[in-house]
Amino acid sequence: MKRTPIIAGNWKMHNTLAESTALVEALKKTTNKNKAEIIVAPSFTSLAKVAELAKGSILQVSAQDIHWEDKGAFTSAVSPVQAKDAGATHTILGHSERRSVFGDTDEILNKKVAAALRHNLTIIFCVGETLQEREENKTLDVINGQIENGLKGFTAEQLKGLIIAYEPVWAIGTGKTATPEQAQEVHAAIRATLAKKYGDNFAQATRILYGGSVKDTNVDEIMAKPDVDGALVGGQSLIAEKFDRIINFN
Ligand code: 13P
Repeated sequence: MKRTPIIAGNWKMHNTLAESTALVEALKKTTNKNKAEIIVAPSFTSLAKVAELAKGSILQVSAQDIHWEDKGAFTSAVSPVQAKDAGATHTILGHSERRSVFGDTDEILNKKVAAALRHNLTIIFCVGETLQEREENKTLDVINGQIENGLKGFTAEQLKGLIIAYEPVWAIGTGKTATPEQAQEVHAAIRATLAKKYGDNFAQATRILYGGSVKDTNVDEIMAKPDVDGALVGGQSLIAEKFDRIINFN
């Protein structure tokens, strides 16, 4: 099945308003020769501005995370209602930095998934193993557990449009990329898990992105793999020329 590729940039805790503006203006000019869906995920301080600048362009805008409640006494958190109001159409959930630094558990993520679905935010659901888990041969168990528990209680119909991002923790920000073969192996396993849980049509339609030190120099070989449908890019998504080259992968 032909799936539209997705190239997404996770800006993490970077960029002032001026820097975000400059980056969006540059990215709006991309030729996008692969007709990919292009998503940028700015910090919340830049989200409304970026969404405004992206309006009518090829760029879609994602939150990096949301809280599971619509409003309330949750100092510093941002609700799905607020993220939508600021212009987000997507939200990343379960990024490994959220899991490891901020303590997002599968149970918390399951509530955030519910919140995103409630407000019609397209979810980019991140999964991935640590180096130790990989060395102990637990990669697929870990990822299947993250999918099982994070998405628990929702049907294929409810999860329609879900995007999965496989981001091996040992490859994030380390310069160590999974080999295309390692990525393909895990992506195929994720698709098999999705088929078992949600049926073949769902599995075939779901875009599975790879993330972890994706660069202008390695994107082509990663994107060449049949079960890799796109990339979730950190560091290089902050540099317009680099991200443009990634968008225009060969
Ligand atoms: P890097 O591309 O900087 O390794 O980050 C990957 C990532 O975490 C994207 O969400």
